Amino acid sequence: MKKIIVTGGCGYIGSHTAIELIENDFEVVIFDDLSNSSEKTLERIEKITGVRPIFEKIDLKDERATEFAFDRYKDAFAVIHFAALKAVGDSIEKPLEYYQNNLYSFLNTLMCQHKLGIHKFIFSSSATVYGNPDVLPITEENKTQRPFSPYGNTKKIAEEILDDFTKSNPNFAAISLRYFNPIGAHESGNIGELPNGTPNNLMPYITQTAAGVRKKLMVFGNDYPTKDGTPIRDYIHVVDLAKAHVKALERLLNQDQEQPLEIYNLGTGNGFSVLDVIQSFDRVSNTKLNYEITGRRDGDVPKLYAATNLALEKLGWKAEKGLDEMIDSSWRWEQKYRNNKNDI
Ligand code: NAD
Ligand code: WQD
Repeated sequence: MKKIIVTGGCGYIGSHTAIELIENDFEVVIFDDLSNSSEKTLERIEKITGVRPIFEKIDLKDERATEFAFDRYKDAFAVIHFAALKAVGDSIEKPLEYYQNNLYSFLNTLMCQHKLGIHKFIFSSSATVYGNPDVLPITEENKTQRPFSPYGNTKKIAEEILDDFTKSNPNFAAISLRYFNPIGAHESGNIGELPNGTPNNLMPYITQTAAGVRKKLMVFGNDYPTKDGTPIRDYIHVVDLAKAHVKALERLLNQDQEQPLEIYNLGTGNGFSVLDVIQSFDRVSNTKLNYEITGRRDGDVPKLYAATNLALEKLGWKAEKGLDEMIDSSWRWEQKYRNNKNDI
């Protein structure tokens, strides 16, 4: 059984990926400092898969602690690096904290695995590295732009570091996955997104509003050059996203890489507006969401959706789940969590 180190594996995307990895017979070792997650995730993964991942509580920006942890798992085949702080607004208020956390964790992880001869790496990047592109859908060949937020910039900088590093170490194989807008939850309803405090992202804000945790969703602007004036995004089901990581890992395992650093968009290729999302939510939940149109949010771009051909051609991966299914699963998770906090 191939051992995979999953940093940030107790978080939203990492936990769904851990499930897919276990279901594909990988042995999962999670490194997480639980700064934005809980150890309870391990129980939830076990409930779904029957297997509890190995867990090390470790802050990856601490170089010594990271070395110590890696040393215990030097037989690992690859690292999937999810660990990062991800709140865009928070990163604008605390840029140094974001650069420190995301870049130190990234560098420590890379240096430790390299020292131990673990030469395979998958990185969680983001469509935010495209900035505000002129041409849509966006292909991986589009030039990256400096992202609006320090958070986004940590992704751009990390990709540039990976590019330099893989060029100087061609036996080190890396894949950077640029996620578009992940939403949704595992079909069991036993695991899903659990943002700390007030959510930044649209989907958890909607489900928390419908659950009565928030009063009203503020829709940030309806004067964009789109069909209904609200911004368009490429929402992707987190389980589809998780499956793409297994495909990327298989590409590394089979040594199919054509370049030491490969980059793939992970989206559906379909763009939906904020009002489309609200309409879909009303439909699947059979409720009427309380929302109000307000001013634009700084940094939002009008339209962003992925070209998906490269991931299909090289990884053999394509997103399968539609918007209603994504939203339905988010809503089922939110309800189950609110009604039954201690049992899931
Ligand atoms: P998350 O916050 O749910 O998970 C991140 C995990 O990393 C958390 O469990 C947190 O405790 C852990 N972590 C953070 N700093 C750490 C450190 N110094 N040491 C050890 N563990 C640490 O976030 P997520 O939504 O699952 O995102 C996973 C990755 O995907 C992140 O790198 C994020 O930037 C990236 N990403 C997320 C989205 C999104 O919309 N969710 C979109 C694009 C990219
Ligand atoms: C989606 C749409 C908002 C909240 C961010 C990061 C990106 C990636 C994914 C991590 C936008 C609107 C939102 C609300 C609203 N994350 N909205 N009211 O901004 O596309 O991407 O998350 O890597 O890097 O930038 O996602 O979910 O915040 O917003 O009207 O309360 O919903 O204006 O049009 P975004 P989002």
